[in-house]
Amino acid sequence: MDVTHDVAGFEGFNLIEPSDYAERGYPHPLFTKLRQQHPVFRWERTEGLPFWAITKYEDIMAISKDPTRFISERRLVLQNRPEEEDLFPKTLIQMDPPKHTDYRKAMSRRFTPGKMRHLHQDIEKIAGEIVDGLLSRGREGECDFVHEVSAPLPIAVIAWMLGVPKADWRLLFDWTNRTIGATDPEFQQPGKTSQETALEAMTELFTYFTDLVAEKRRNPCDDLVTAFAHMEVNGERIPEIDVMTWCLIIVVAGNETTRNATSGGLLAFVENPGEMRKVQANPGLMPSAVEELVRWTSPIIHFARTATEDVELRGQTIRKGDALGIFYPSANRDEDIFEDPGTFRVDRSPNRHIGFGVGEHYCLGAHVARLELEMVFKHLLPRFEEIELAGPVTRLHSALVGGVKSLPIRYRLRDPS
Ligand code: HEM
Repeated sequence: MDVTHDVAGFEGFNLIEPSDYAERGYPHPLFTKLRQQHPVFRWERTEGLPFWAITKYEDIMAISKDPTRFISERRLVLQNRPEEEDLFPKTLIQMDPPKHTDYRKAMSRRFTPGKMRHLHQDIEKIAGEIVDGLLSRGREGECDFVHEVSAPLPIAVIAWMLGVPKADWRLLFDWTNRTIGATDPEFQQPGKTSQETALEAMTELFTYFTDLVAEKRRNPCDDLVTAFAHMEVNGERIPEIDVMTWCLIIVVAGNETTRNATSGGLLAFVENPGEMRKVQANPGLMPSAVEELVRWTSPIIHFARTATEDVELRGQTIRKGDALGIFYPSANRDEDIFEDPGTFRVDRSPNRHIGFGVGEHYCLGAHVARLELEMVFKHLLPRFEEIELAGPVTRLHSALVGGVKSLPIRYRLRDPS
């Protein structure tokens, strides 16, 4: 069945095709139709493996909280070419209990809100410097917001948390572009497939971190690479490959996601100036504005799960071994959960979005991301008098992260208060 045939603007849209997201953005009308008419939909039109498209909030909650019947280890993302599904070595996000539970427990204290309070000043300093760099150029200006603000901020924060020397921050930026953006023609290396592009970047990243881990063993510091280098589970050092995959998951998971929440967040303010005025008038709204930005942008498009036994869901039989795609942007606009879900409201309450996932693999970096978003908009929003688009927004070719590649803006500033 072609479920897209009557969805204006999204006819023929393929839920796991990177270029469809680049050209048409998130298919919200299609998600709405799926939620309302086919909430557990067998997606069979693509070249690759068929999968179940899961689009309702409650179903994604239930699946994410049931890591025994719905495992992550088999595949992390759905691809049109299934041979590319196993590209990444198994990082934390692709482990299942009991290994996942042990590995996560060993590191989770480094990501708690309490630990973040400790990091607050450092993250605010990084965000403040990046924003001031932009705003110090005069009362009026134009820039590509992604290039100037949203891309450098998470790189700087992640690199600093890991303990990567400043001279090497640029390398991290390049590796993330080439791993997450491997399906995007701009980041694909000449003469190489997306798979080869990503593998090459990952090899460089592993080589770099092998040296850094050795250095942190010689000279331990209070940073994440030192913690990974010395990590023990059940009284034993974790294997070297797992030290590497910890570095990889933090670099990859922490960058594109926050970058796109920041870019998508600014775009939401450009398109909803009344909401920007509300935050300007009442800075106390910032924490709820940040939650709404994550709900609204839902930077992760989907992750995959694999069924380990036959399961009935909304009258459909999901068979053992079947692949499922859980679509976060759809869950975050579910009309059974959110009042007026298609409206961006900085004072939305309650706001039980699942942009950071839920259950077993709930985002380990959620507090880091929240803090970054809060700090960047805290420094930025009070200064904007006017802000508008200065050119077309271009998007990343990816069905994993809903990426904004460039966001040209024109702005006029107020005097600092
Ligand atoms: C707005 C920014 C972010 C969004 C939207 C986001 C989203 C997500 C989502 C949806 C998951 C759940 C995966 C699943 O259930 O399979 C996840 C997991 C994860 N995220 Fe994030 N993330 C963000 C920022 C970050 C940052 C800044 C870091 C690191 C500092 C990070 C590290 C991780 C890790 C390590 C996991 C795996 C957790 C596990 O498997 O137990 N994320 N993230």
